Amino acid sequence: MVALFLLSSTGVTHLSSPIPPPAARPALGPQPLPGVDAIIAVGSGKGGVGKTTLAVNLAVALAKMGHKVGLLDADVYGPNVPLMLGVNQQPRMAGENRIEPLEAFGVKVISVGFLNPGDKPIIWRGPMLHQIVKQFLAQVAWGNLDYMVVDLPPGTGDIALSLVQSVPLTGAIVVSTPSDVSLQDARKAVEMFRQMKVDLVGVVENMSYFVCPHCHHEIDIFSRGGAETMAKHFAVPFLGSIELDPEVRKAGDGGKPVVLAGENSPHATSIYQFAQTVLARVAEIKGGEGTGVIQIQ
Ligand SMILES: Nc1ncnc2c1ncn2[C@@H]1O[C@H](COP(=O)(O)OP(=O)(O)OP(=O)(O)O)[C@@H](O)[C@H]1O
Ligand SMILES: [Mg+2]
Ligand SMILES: [Zn+2]
Repeated sequence: MVALFLLSSTGVTHLSSPIPPPAARPALGPQPLPGVDAIIAVGSGKGGVGKTTLAVNLAVALAKMGHKVGLLDADVYGPNVPLMLGVNQQPRMAGENRIEPLEAFGVKVISVGFLNPGDKPIIWRGPMLHQIVKQFLAQVAWGNLDYMVVDLPPGTGDIALSLVQSVPLTGAIVVSTPSDVSLQDARKAVEMFRQMKVDLVGVVENMSYFVCPHCHHEIDIFSRGGAETMAKHFAVPFLGSIELDPEVRKAGDGGKPVVLAGENSPHATSIYQFAQTVLARVAEIKGGEGTGVIQIQ
């Protein structure tokens, strides 16, 4: 029952029969995984709001700040991390039952996309999802990490549940755009993490506004500030606003995350600020103040 993924010469995943998921959530110890100091999940209610973009940029920004970072792509339906990091090789085995993560821009990374390249989807059943998440946590040779960032698929489904049941998360980031539909779904994501007793690192507003390249006016495409208001309403920390910036999209599609330009790049500043805020919150949670509730100034 152990070998859900095994790399064969054809590079295809082998799926073994499922086991039922464990009932209880593991307790938060000093390290959620041996050698890993903090695990931060990035989720949202709605699809396409920038989870992967922010997870990838957060991971690379933390690595550029000198931290040891891993990125686990838990979006098994639409793994976009390989594209956004510009990596897509077949990982090597490290010993009999362990897999070596790939590395990009100083970040160790694993994705179903590495095991199943191309456009053919794997049709997953619930218990298989649970197994692949567990294996990505336990059977990847992550080594020592300061932070592991987990990119979740959209919604409040099986994968998030499997993750929470498999490992004690340090906290979760909920990504939303300021639009009402995104916020409605983001509230569900906040509620889901609360029900699963996962601390909320906070809510981040992505595609918050757009600076016109011609007249430099800021345009509130999706009604800026909505996520911050929502965060306050739910007493969840607000982690910052990230503008809608074509350079962010271009950098992502090109496999060179925008934060590589450094924190002084106008295209990356807000993401570095977000990363700093995340670190401060994670330190707070680890220090035992992690109720996900903030003082509202
Ligand atoms: N701040 C931003 N400025 C410009 N484009 C952005 C920004 N954030 C994300 N994008 C773009 O929006 C698209 C969707 O982003 P992304 O894939 O990160 O969202 P997602 O929430 O992970 O989606 P899914 O739910 O499908 O996993 C991508 O093309 C990405 O480059
Ligand atoms: Mg994504
Ligand atoms: Zn203009």
